[in-house]
Amino acid sequence: MNWSIDNDTTTSTLRFPKCSYKITTAMTTPLPPTKPPLTLYTSIASIRQWRRGQANQRKSVAMVPTMGALHAGHISLLRSAARTHDSLVISIFVNPAQFAPHEDLSRYPRTLTTDIKQLEVLNTELSSPESSSKGRIEALFVPPVPEMYPSGIPLQQELQKGAFVTVTPLSSRLEGITRPHFFRGVATVCMKLFNIVQPDEVYFGQKDVQQTVVLKWMVGDLHVPTKIRVEDTIREEDGLAMSSRNVYLGEKRRGFATCLYKALKAAEEAYLQEVAKGAKVIPKRILTEPAEKMLREAGSDEVKTETEYFSVACPRGLEELEQVDVSVGAVISGAVKMLPTQEGEGPVRIIDNIILKSKAETSTQEARTSQDLRTVVSV
Ligand code: PAJ
Repeated sequence: MNWSIDNDTTTSTLRFPKCSYKITTAMTTPLPPTKPPLTLYTSIASIRQWRRGQANQRKSVAMVPTMGALHAGHISLLRSAARTHDSLVISIFVNPAQFAPHEDLSRYPRTLTTDIKQLEVLNTELSSPESSSKGRIEALFVPPVPEMYPSGIPLQQELQKGAFVTVTPLSSRLEGITRPHFFRGVATVCMKLFNIVQPDEVYFGQKDVQQTVVLKWMVGDLHVPTKIRVEDTIREEDGLAMSSRNVYLGEKRRGFATCLYKALKAAEEAYLQEVAKGAKVIPKRILTEPAEKMLREAGSDEVKTETEYFSVACPRGLEELEQVDVSVGAVISGAVKMLPTQEGEGPVRIIDNIILKSKAETSTQEARTSQDLRTVVSV
């Protein structure tokens, strides 16, 4: 096995020695090896050098930003990107700015060695003679925290200094109600990643639909020359959307974790029935009533759930709708908190969504494709 790690230092150093912030996460463990064509980069200078090489060879570059603990949802984004791009770069960075002080930053699963194995298995698949894919994963960018936040990044927002990106008013709705810091952190880290790597296209999952709309808004308003692609949500066999945080559920709660998906499917079913009857506008309550009833009845004596929101929103800016215009469609989304069942467990938030297609799209009988999503979820 070849070691193909750039010669960055693996220990983080602060660029501004007089900075008063405390950097809490440093990369002190040795980095695992990677097999060509995959190379692991930890510094901005080295990934930029790689990027310049791709540009000189006129290769198109697609990026998949992640926080690691890779699962089939992440792998499917890479697979899609490989269909049309020459070189892929994936970033793994657990971004402190999107975690509030009471959230799970220190517990967030970090599985770099197995992540790399998954990337190498995918590269083998992409290189096989049967594969019609164009590209392979060439760069894995795993920056230490001080590399991304040279001015420091304390978790209390009021202590943070420096440049941050906010997208208003969307960032304070839906997910932003209980996580007001979240989209500022996501937009800021994505802006940094887009500036560092300058990919031609970046791939995101519909699973985090509000994130995709916030980021589309950001690249539009800030004239970032990178296209955003949105790909389908990958689910477990029983419908639960895959998520790196599902490992927190444990066996008892896992059995009930599909409640949100089932409620979304009930709302979708109600929508499709109304469309089939010829409705032009559908009052929101026709969709939310069956879904909210299912969510109220979810759980058991042992497993308690709390619905944070169940939303029916406009696909463009995710404004809440009182009725759905079937010529436009809507995004239905929700968040459910699964409460701890035993000592040592924390609450786990499940988020999910379904895009209600416009009447024109439903009547073409075509299977929903990511192309539909790209046009539906747009700003
Ligand atoms: P993370 O949760 O690791 O997700 C990385 C990407 O994978 C996101 O675009 C997310 O929507 C997508 N994804 C997650 N689960 C998926 C699933 N079941 N099916 C399809 N795609 C899925 O989202 C983040 O990280 C961070 O906020 C990030 C954008 C990296 C910024 O820090």
